[in-house]
Amino acid sequence: MSADGARASDVIELRDVTRSFGEVVAVDHVSLGIRQGEFFALLGPSGCGKTTTLRIMAGFERPSSGDVYLRGRRVNDVPPYRRETNLIFQQLALFPHMDVYDNVAFGLRVKRRPAAETADRVRSVLQLVDLAGYERRRMHELSGGQQQRVAIARALVNEPAVLLLDEPLGALDLKLRLQMQRELKAMQRRSGTTFVYVTHDQGEALAMADRVAVMQLGKIAQLGAPEHIYSRPATRFVAHFIGDTNIIPVTVRERGVDGSAVLEANGLRFAVTDADARPGETRHVSLRPEKIRIAAAHAARPDGHAGTVTDVTFLGPLTRYEVSVGEGVRLVVQTQTESEEHFRRDDRVSLSWAPNAPVVLKD
Ligand SMILES: Nc1ncnc2c1ncn2[C@@H]1O[C@H](COP(=O)(O)OP(=O)(O)OP(=O)(O)O)[C@@H](O)[C@H]1O
Ligand SMILES: [Mg+2]
Repeated sequence: MSADGARASDVIELRDVTRSFGEVVAVDHVSLGIRQGEFFALLGPSGCGKTTTLRIMAGFERPSSGDVYLRGRRVNDVPPYRRETNLIFQQLALFPHMDVYDNVAFGLRVKRRPAAETADRVRSVLQLVDLAGYERRRMHELSGGQQQRVAIARALVNEPAVLLLDEPLGALDLKLRLQMQRELKAMQRRSGTTFVYVTHDQGEALAMADRVAVMQLGKIAQLGAPEHIYSRPATRFVAHFIGDTNIIPVTVRERGVDGSAVLEANGLRFAVTDADARPGETRHVSLRPEKIRIAAAHAARPDGHAGTVTDVTFLGPLTRYEVSVGEGVRLVVQTQTESEEHFRRDDRVSLSWAPNAPVVLKD
């Protein structure tokens, strides 16, 4: 920690940052630290405060309260052009009348870097974004994905400590988007630059980020590695927002000293390994469809729950079942089409899952 308490290992730190616009609290007491070299995603639905948070990091927006630190230095009063961050907006704002080389060289020329150094750096950064050989192309002679890469090259050439990207792939079609996701991730690894990446697309955040902050109504609902957020969501909002899940309202029936508990939902009783809840309390449980095993009723496991298939959807590699268990609890189950037994509507089946599969949510 430095004298003012900021963690030196964090490139950016927001401490209890709030930003209001009149009645609207766009960012609501957000605290987070972004580590050197990581790919950090800000994920959440439209209007949850992602862009405002990013603009606060860049210095285009001042917090109403709270503090912003860059490499341990408080920067609340430092304007964007004097910060070591570079923001790439969704609207790229490339210079249409200039070619690739001039677009990328622009920042270095403004800073009056020597021509030889500029040429060197532009060449190496164009190699990084895989645009070597495109130097003399104008913007209208490039595809959407290539233009995105020019924008990224133009930011990277300034060697920012942090690259801030606001839905940079938003305008691209799905195929190009997936390709650019892989390229961006590879670029980030090669350059070692810290990326803060705003998206409302959970698949994109999970695929690219080292850590994800899920935002809801200006607050951080959960922050962690993608695998952790997916397998241990904290709230109903996060469980729903990240992937498909069954949300089951339950009552806590018993609680063990080891933290395990027995839960009940409409005639469906099951144990969980880890429940921070008291007997009698009502809560919600998230149970991922692919965590549920489905077997024929005659092959039921001792811990199986008897049910009836109410719907079957073939999804290619996956098959999705709806099964009614207990007294009308409907669970979605997802299986690998190839490797598992198939069932039809009205089949009697048995569902089971590992005791650590259901996650007891906070709300
Ligand atoms: N300059 C402004 N004046 C008034 N309200 C604003 C301003 N900027 C943002 N807001 C409001 O603050 C909230 C958060 O906006 P923000 O742009 O940060 O959301 P976002 O998560 O980036 O959404 P999207 O995914 O749609 O881009 C919204 O309710 C928005 O209307
Ligand atoms: Mg936005």
